[in-house]
Amino acid sequence: MDEYKIKRIEEGLTKIEFPEFDKISSDAPVFYNPHMELNRDLSILAIQVFQKQEKRDINICDLFGGSGIRGIRYKNEIDGVDNVFINDISEVANYYEQHNIELNNLENVEVHSHDASMFLRIKRGEFDVIDIDPFGTPSPFLDSAGYCARRKSLLCVTATDTSALCGTYKEPCIRKYNAKPYKSEYCHETGIRILAGFVALTLSKYGKYIDVKMSHSTEHYMRLYIYVNKGPKKTDQSLKNIGYISHCKNCLHRQTSLGLASPIEEICPVCGEKLIHAGPLWLGDIQDSDFIQKMIDETEHKKINTEKSALKLLNSCLNEAKAPATFYDVHKICKSLRISAPKLDLIFDEIKRQGFIAIKTHYNPLGIKSDATVEDIKNILLELCKEF
Ligand SMILES: C[S@@+](CC[C@H](N)C(=O)[O-])C[C@H]1O[C@@H](n2cnc3c(N)ncnc32)[C@H](O)[C@@H]1O
Repeated sequence: MDEYKIKRIEEGLTKIEFPEFDKISSDAPVFYNPHMELNRDLSILAIQVFQKQEKRDINICDLFGGSGIRGIRYKNEIDGVDNVFINDISEVANYYEQHNIELNNLENVEVHSHDASMFLRIKRGEFDVIDIDPFGTPSPFLDSAGYCARRKSLLCVTATDTSALCGTYKEPCIRKYNAKPYKSEYCHETGIRILAGFVALTLSKYGKYIDVKMSHSTEHYMRLYIYVNKGPKKTDQSLKNIGYISHCKNCLHRQTSLGLASPIEEICPVCGEKLIHAGPLWLGDIQDSDFIQKMIDETEHKKINTEKSALKLLNSCLNEAKAPATFYDVHKICKSLRISAPKLDLIFDEIKRQGFIAIKTHYNPLGIKSDATVEDIKNILLELCKEF
């Protein structure tokens, strides 16, 4: 490995070395993405909360190790971690994973060199936490994760194929997630719900069901923290959260319908246009306020370089836990009404004054999550416009 110039970085309490590269890409000898520090910081908070809730020492699998930064940070910075297993199919990555374990003087961290699905199957039932952070889609690995996950375990899933999940390209989403996306103004939320729905359906084959503890869409990726448990009855019950979001391109009305194969309304009840459907997807909760509050509290005890952004995101997700699915984009609605947008604060105040929920969303600074209908929101915007 002498041919490489080595770069050293520090995240949290951990130092990592890897071959220097010009561009962040899968072609780098060992992959390291500094933009994922927030993702790793939040993972430390989420896994710590999980460990404390379970009140036992945990074993963690970092399935796609790269430089080893994730697994090494988990062992170094989370209390109550027994063994960490870092896996990567690349031998160069394995070399630096081992090097970085030694650099941080850690014990009980093992390096493995298998295809991800193979590794999960070899170690079936041994992990309390499985972290899936691949290049692109996690889809091909979810079957093995579903087969191998323990009851009462935590599954952490990253997807960077956001163009598929958001519906920029429809076919890849159908291919990878067996779901139809739709590129609406709230497509990042739809994408997270498609991914959660696909995880739920995949795990259900193994009698396992999910409880989404926290989820976010940030920059080029989506990330979900999912509690996994086992039992056929509860799995059947949980699949009742699978359904569709139907959207009207004409008047921006949207509605949800539960059921994988239940009949769905075809015509917009507001304007009579044809509705467009996205799904199957998860219509259950995608934020758990108790879990997220504990993640926020945990920031007091951790050294997190991204603390400011982490807290901003966590507080937003905490508020979103109370909100219904989808959100309105003020500018999009104002454009459809051919009016200029009133100040955001005034809109929020007026929606609340009329007795509706109005909650900001991390997906979009101009987004409003509300139980008001699109017609209510339009009337509020028109009224506010008249006043100014
Ligand atoms: C996105 S990187 C992982 C980044 C790392 N988790 C982090 O936080 O820095 C994906 C890694 O997966 C490895 N990989 C690709 N295909 C794999 C497979 N089928 N099984 C195991 N590892 C694989 C690559 O060598 C690469 O190091």
